[in-house]
Amino acid sequence: MSRPGGLVLTILRIFRFIPGDDGARFMDYEVDAPKGATVLDCLFRVKHEIDGTLAFRCSCRSAICGSCAMTINDANRLACKTQIEDLGRLVRVEPLVGYPVVKDLVVDMGIFWRQYRSIKPYLIGGPSPPKKEWVQSPNQRRTLDEPAQCIMCGACSSSCPVMWTDERYLGPAALLKVWRFVADTRDTATRDRLGMINNEFGVWRCHTIFRCVDSCPKYINPTEAIESLRRTAIRASVSDLFRRA
Ligand code: F3S
Repeated sequence: MSRPGGLVLTILRIFRFIPGDDGARFMDYEVDAPKGATVLDCLFRVKHEIDGTLAFRCSCRSAICGSCAMTINDANRLACKTQIEDLGRLVRVEPLVGYPVVKDLVVDMGIFWRQYRSIKPYLIGGPSPPKKEWVQSPNQRRTLDEPAQCIMCGACSSSCPVMWTDERYLGPAALLKVWRFVADTRDTATRDRLGMINNEFGVWRCHTIFRCVDSCPKYINPTEAIESLRRTAIRASVSDLFRRA
């Protein structure tokens, strides 16, 4: 419903959970959203003007830090990037699925960060680094363009049904990061990295459900990265077999 001054009356149906309180519930809040308002703007409106106890995470407000990932109208999105006018009058806002809720829209992402740390998410150079710099051709660098865009918001891993059933599965975000280093010509730990993912909790656990692709706010394709890792792991195993024969 349009209001004077171009404001749009929006109902935010927000998941509320307060530790120690009597259970979780949805609560409705009416806000006047100006043109161009994002879900994050409206959450701030609720917090500043209606209910100061509402808890949610955010930082950069520019779709860079990834901290405001949440489920909005049944899809994982960044609240700071999602325009209210694209959502209809009733907007359902919930915490990311698959992680324990700490309070309201804030989740404990401990599982996500444990998985991330386990794959050694840093460049491992050889024992003798070049005197000046590692040289890469523009084409070699281009392979990293997409995986390097990941902002670690957790939207992809939260949307993956396999993750919901078994937290030992590394999940799309960690696997994408493994591919980011396997594809990097400066990294020398490919064998070690393939050992981390060539197993039942790595690339072979992915059922190619593609929800991770749909939920990425940066339009990255983790499934393609998982497929590339599978091909690389198979090629490495076959060449090992030939070497031993
Ligand atoms: Fe999950 Fe994405 Fe694979 S949703 S099953 S990681 S394709």
